[in-house]
Amino acid sequence: MSVNPSDPNLETRLNSNGWAEGYLAVTGNKGISTIRRSYQLRVFDTFVKDRSLRILDVGCGNGTFLHHLHQSGFHHIAGIEPHETLLYDLARRHPELNGKVVPGTASPLPFTDHSFDCIYFFNVLHHLTGPREYDRAFDEVLRCLSPGGQVIFVEPCRKWIYASKRWMAGRLGRFFPFFRQMHAFMMEERDLMNQFMDHQSYIRNALRQRELERVHDQQFLHQWTVVARKRPGHANRD
Ligand SMILES: C[S@@+](CC[C@H](N)C(=O)[O-])C[C@H]1O[C@@H](n2cnc3c(N)ncnc32)[C@H](O)[C@@H]1O
Repeated sequence: MSVNPSDPNLETRLNSNGWAEGYLAVTGNKGISTIRRSYQLRVFDTFVKDRSLRILDVGCGNGTFLHHLHQSGFHHIAGIEPHETLLYDLARRHPELNGKVVPGTASPLPFTDHSFDCIYFFNVLHHLTGPREYDRAFDEVLRCLSPGGQVIFVEPCRKWIYASKRWMAGRLGRFFPFFRQMHAFMMEERDLMNQFMDHQSYIRNALRQRELERVHDQQFLHQWTVVARKRPGHANRD
């Protein structure tokens, strides 16, 4: 199914069970999950070394990365996730995350001011429906970060690479059910993803306006990784 970014039901449709099944199948693949895990842990090893920091994983899916963080010695971890099927899968697979993950979205975040030292989005911003939602999410990030805290996001960034992967999945999907599922999942996200990739400068500007200083901003192949820091002296407005 393809989606129209101006469709008011977009969020609900993207969060359909068909989408969730595709997500679970793709992220459950051994090769894909190994690549994702090693990339994410490398980002944390580089930018979030201190195991005592308080981490929030926004749109944590079925909790796989929170589980890896927990195994790597991060214990002040929390997650927020809107999709019921993924929350159900998380509860079934990761009892160690019991009580650490709440249902909800990026805005509003149901946490008090300065609750976290690092707020992490992995492949989540492209699920937001456009500039208004990015703005609301960054306002909430700013409020919930401690002074000097960091927001990290990793998102897809090159349309042609994404389109090539989709094309390849479609071809292979003629022969292999796994790629058929991957292709359907990518088709469902396609329009939102393309819209997101057109909004990179909007997003950089939105961070700048909030004085979230970008300390790392790198595009490598299809991945855009940004680390932005809240000023140590920043006081939240009442
Ligand atoms: C591509 S998945 C990535 C999940 C997880 N971060 C991972 O890497 O496995 C996108 C996630 O964002 C969640 N999501 C969708 N809309 C959201 C919103 N408005 N706020 C927070 N999370 C959202 C989805 O339910 C889904 O779990």
